[in-house]
Amino acid sequence: MTRLIFLGPPGAGKGTQAQLLSQLCEIPHISTGDILRTAVADQTELGKKAQSYMDAGELVPDALMLDLVRDRLKSIADRSGWILDGFPRTVVQAEFLDELLHDIHQPLDSVVNLDVPDMVLIERLLARGRSDDNETTIRNRLKVYRDQTSPLVDYYQSRDQLVAVDGSLPIAEVTEILKSVCN
Ligand code: AP5
Repeated sequence: MTRLIFLGPPGAGKGTQAQLLSQLCEIPHISTGDILRTAVADQTELGKKAQSYMDAGELVPDALMLDLVRDRLKSIADRSGWILDGFPRTVVQAEFLDELLHDIHQPLDSVVNLDVPDMVLIERLLARGRSDDNETTIRNRLKVYRDQTSPLVDYYQSRDQLVAVDGSLPIAEVTEILKSVCN
């Protein structure tokens, strides 16, 4: 069983590494960003509500995120683990996840924190060019990360669950370091 959370600022490589590790460990990759982008593209009720927050680089309200993650995790309860990429992003989400994992008897193994300097993040995101990768939105996403998500580093560190990795290394080197977290 491998149950992992990927933490890190926008552009740190959470999606890239979660995807690679999901193949290596043969476990599902759950990206809340990807789920929301699909909902926006399909113009579902969730997508319509989420779009303006995503365009501005703000977090989608917790009330919308909690049901989504509960449903996803419950639907894969029988599989051999999972990687959560982009959730939790607030202390409220982390506390909700603690309770949910306790209820469904799926304890968390590790939280991978990818650390990358802001200048490198901005360069990577501008080069990628997703619709929220313009300079104004990137700066707000970085601020939102610092204000609302970075407290989770201490949250998981204090429980000895944090694995800190230098995300500024080349992609293959980061994956090589992360391979050891697969059980
Ligand atoms: P989300 O999709 O999660 O975006 P993000 O956190 O801003 O992360 P990114 O996808 O930009 O970066 P990443 O760390 O995954 O890096 P990646 O591997 O892509 O969320 C988008 C929005 O959805 C949020 O702003 C929010 O509105 C909403 N949302 C999502 N989850 C939410 C939640 N829980 N609560 C509320 N709202 C939520 O890599 C980036 C680029 O860098 C790529 O081009 C990649 O090729 C390159 N790269 C990666 N690693 C390396 C490397 N080691 N060296 C060189 N280049 C690299």
